[in-house]
Amino acid sequence: MTIDSSNSDRDSVCGRRHACSDDNIIIQQDRTELAETAASMILAASIISIAQRGVFTIALAGGSTPGPVYERLTTLAEIDWPRWRIFWSDERCVSPAHADSNYQMARESLLDRLPQAPGTVSRLRGELPPQEAARVYEQAIRKTVAAPDSNFPRFDLILLGMGDDGHTASLFPGSPALNNTKDLVVADFVSKLTANRLTFTYPLINAARHVLILVSGSSKADALVSALNGPHRPNELPVQGVKPVDGQLRWLVDADAAQSLSQ
Ligand code: 6PG
Repeated sequence: MTIDSSNSDRDSVCGRRHACSDDNIIIQQDRTELAETAASMILAASIISIAQRGVFTIALAGGSTPGPVYERLTTLAEIDWPRWRIFWSDERCVSPAHADSNYQMARESLLDRLPQAPGTVSRLRGELPPQEAARVYEQAIRKTVAAPDSNFPRFDLILLGMGDDGHTASLFPGSPALNNTKDLVVADFVSKLTANRLTFTYPLINAARHVLILVSGSSKADALVSALNGPHRPNELPVQGVKPVDGQLRWLVDADAAQSLSQ
């Protein structure tokens, strides 16, 4: 299945086994199918990007949903890992060995299992003072990811998840980071977590060619139906602020998360 799902691809996913509430929302039966489809879509995006530009720039999502996706990627022999430029769309302010680290999750489920090293792996350094970590990461992004037609580097693909409160990356409800229109990466104290986080901003996310939001589990059902069918209120539901300016947004959700969507 390609990331730019042609109708036949989309119908093959949506028509045969799964309802799709519209072109941008693909509903999968369970986490296993979500992982398989997500990995296929990421592979497809990487093939197109490498053919067109010689590299594939991707920002990985954190949390628990992407783990099986990353494991699935390690089984795809067609992937040209040396052409991949890997980043993270957010990170916790912890060391890379910490159990909460998004880097640690990706190292275990992806990086340590690869047959070849990726071209570059640019870790968001959660162990640094948060403001410094954000500045250092901005420099790393600007060095590697081209900004063809704006001040904002254009990732080929940014992976995101969604929390049951509608947060995405580490853009949480009510956060000042939601109103940041100039930076690429910001540090943010998340009061509900009483913890600092590092996150891509909306301008960087929305500059991407492709954004793929992965949502799994019944605990996300209310937030998902509000985000997709409810009033536009990104301050309360930050995932609603994900609107690629000149790119494609796809939601890949499992049936548990989609249980409240009308089909
Ligand atoms: C993080 C993520 C966050 C995550 C959602 C969903 O650092 O936690 O970036 O935005 O994607 O909280 O998390 P789950 O996949 O664990 O449900």
